[in-house]
Amino acid sequence: MKGIILAGGSATRLYPLSKAISKQIMPVYDKPMIYYPLSTLMLAGIREVLIISTPRDLPVFRDLLESGEQLGMHFEYIIQEKPNGLAEAFILAEEFLQGQPACLILGDNMFYGQGFSSMLKRAQSTQKGATIFGYYVKDPRAYGVVEFNEHNQVLGLEEKPENPKSNYAVPGLYFYDETVVQKAKSLKPSKRGELEITDLNRLYLEEQRLHVELFGRGFAWLDTGNCDSLLEAANFVATIQNRQGYYIACIEEIAWRNKWITGKQLCELGHKLEKTAYGQYLLDLLK
Ligand code: G1P
Repeated sequence: MKGIILAGGSATRLYPLSKAISKQIMPVYDKPMIYYPLSTLMLAGIREVLIISTPRDLPVFRDLLESGEQLGMHFEYIIQEKPNGLAEAFILAEEFLQGQPACLILGDNMFYGQGFSSMLKRAQSTQKGATIFGYYVKDPRAYGVVEFNEHNQVLGLEEKPENPKSNYAVPGLYFYDETVVQKAKSLKPSKRGELEITDLNRLYLEEQRLHVELFGRGFAWLDTGNCDSLLEAANFVATIQNRQGYYIACIEEIAWRNKWITGKQLCELGHKLEKTAYGQYLLDLLK
């Protein structure tokens, strides 16, 4: 399975910050935002990742993440000219995917909680269909929303409904089988002019091949869409890291724990950043 990070979007609710700097490069406490979705893909065991972004921002991501070799990974980069919708990612990724299944994560989505890695591995190993997730929120109107019957079977999906049929929002993390490119190509733009991920998921639902896994109440799915939620996410990361001493979304640590890089390579990466707390953390892992 290959991974895709979609790091585009207008980010208007973060203006004027977003005029100066790409949203997904903005810091969430001590790291660029894109480290968080990248770490999620890595926890799912995905080593080949396509980063999709705007003409303005793509060079910045390339400069930050390079070829991926330093993490024992492989990164490719492609431009999305206009915000034509999340599902367009699969059309852009056709050549990269080469008929393989795909996991898409949005560049501003952060996940944190116990048991997450095993949930990811499970979703990753599902052979046919799609796996998406549901997360209970107070107000789901800004999201895709999933409707269930009393047996927890999925009845329907709606994008940004005015009157949501449940409180379960669909986070920006999706696992699809190899039919995803062909399905994405069959979509028509919605009223807001986008190829909607919710319409793509509905195609899997119609085939009865849509699995929805629910995150429990002890789980954190954080949004970084406006200045308050960005600050809240930063405070969340700082609180956990300072209390436990474990870093959230430390991509070098995950690469090393996944055995994609050796202790020697981790040591070299740590030495490059020696004067920072981040670099010291990497070096301390080896003690
Ligand atoms: C998108 C999807 C929506 C999903 C959300 C998760 O919304 O369209 O279904 O729930 O991401 O972050 P957008 O970012 O386009 O508002």
